[in-house]
Amino acid sequence: VGHIEDVQELRKVKPTTIPERFVRDMTERPTLATALSSPSDIPIIDFSKLIKGDKDEVHSEIMKLATACEEWGFFQVINHEIELSLLESIEKVAKEFFMLPLEEKQKYPMAPGTVQGYGQAFVFSEDQKLDWCNMFALGVEPHYIRNPKLWPTKPAKFSETVELYSREVRKLCNNLLKYIAMTLGLRQQAFEEMFGVAVQAIRMNYYPACSRPDLVLGLSPHSDGSALTVLQQGKGNSVGLQILKDNTWVPVQPIPNALVINIGDTIEVLTNGKYKSVEHRAVTHKEKDRLSIVTFYAPSYEIELGPMPELVDINNPCKYRRYNHGEYSKHYVTNKLQGKKTLDFAK
Ligand code: SIN
Ligand code: FE2
Repeated sequence: VGHIEDVQELRKVKPTTIPERFVRDMTERPTLATALSSPSDIPIIDFSKLIKGDKDEVHSEIMKLATACEEWGFFQVINHEIELSLLESIEKVAKEFFMLPLEEKQKYPMAPGTVQGYGQAFVFSEDQKLDWCNMFALGVEPHYIRNPKLWPTKPAKFSETVELYSREVRKLCNNLLKYIAMTLGLRQQAFEEMFGVAVQAIRMNYYPACSRPDLVLGLSPHSDGSALTVLQQGKGNSVGLQILKDNTWVPVQPIPNALVINIGDTIEVLTNGKYKSVEHRAVTHKEKDRLSIVTFYAPSYEIELGPMPELVDINNPCKYRRYNHGEYSKHYVTNKLQGKKTLDFAK
């Protein structure tokens, strides 16, 4: 795959240079029209109403959730019950990690074809365009997916904070899946029972400012290979996440302390396409760096998946085959990010 330049170093040493490998083809560049379009209002779900609202509040929030999953594939959760101090801590240790000297970060190199450690994932050829982003990713649950050598000793509180944060996000995912099951008329435990011991991973994306945000992408367009994804956007950062809605890239305006949730490929397959795993990408900013902290929540690798019989009928013929989720994950991490192409595996 050739040498992959570290974008933070590049930005530091040659702040106005954009190497050819980062310059996108015309059709892929973030267009001016997109940059100027007004921030979208992706649905907002009030989690506290779901778990302790009165009957009407629960009902109306469930309806909102159904629309969010069906029409947007994305929503923001407010009042999610994860302590703000924990959101701040994870952001702090993530930032501190990315600010370490390169040699320190390179003690945890991402091996090709994996998404664990520091580096740039999903790069498989020399002529593939590179993302304006440094990543650090770890498998978290269950324990057998961990590579202990990749858990950093610096900053001192890093690993402990990832543990605490991941436990809370896991609870949130579990709860959200219960309500998503309800929107489909399924039993609350339907997904939990289907998933086995869920796989959970965390990825921190650091997008340095870029002198030519019109030429590069922070993260290539893709849909997520997870069931659910939870995204925390750094405070005071630029807007960077864009989702493809009705063929237009629309920016997601961060709400302070909210978490962005999106439906991944697993739920699209299970619901036979009723709920969408929506394509998204990240763009960069001329002056501001951006940090995002992403949790992927997915079924256990040994689980066989396919559209649920309840969601297949004459009007909704089966769109996907049955497959093993472990094989799907392998397929996902060994291919470049390319829109919704990874889902072809399930066809
Ligand atoms: C992602 O899709 O994994 C991250 C997007 C973002 O940084 O907002
Ligand atoms: Fe994503």
